[in-house]
Amino acid sequence: MKFILAISLLLCLSLSYEVNASCSGDCPETEDVVWALGGGCSVFRNKCFFDKANCTRRPALQIVTKEECQKHCASACPQNYDPVSGDYKGQIRHFGNACEKIVHSCQTGETFLN
Ligand SMILES: *[C@@H]1O[C@H](CO)[C@@H](O)[C@H](O)[C@H]1NC(C)=O
Repeated sequence: MKFILAISLLLCLSLSYEVNASCSGDCPETEDVVWALGGGCSVFRNKCFFDKANCTRRPALQIVTKEECQKHCASACPQNYDPVSGDYKGQIRHFGNACEKIVHSCQTGETFLN
């Protein structure tokens, strides 16, 4: 009886882990870019980062090709100077503000981990 209980507990835990696995936790840094539409074009480092974002986005994000997505990159940013930087493969890039960083990722496919 105790054995059955332990087994079902384990099963429950692993099931709930499966469900939450894509919504939280750390993603690998592997570069396997995912392009998605949903109120503009979003670029994700890999499917894991995509899944995390798609967990909370309603309506859900839609995975599309790079070409399709890039038609929907924002092109204009506010001109405010509120500098941010990003590390792409060990190269530090600087942007005037967070919007410019997002547009850069959209236009180039360079995804930053910070
Ligand atoms: C995004 O999330 C929705 C709703 O949870 C889900 O139905 C859809 O399959 C997800 N999209 C992808 C590509 O995983």
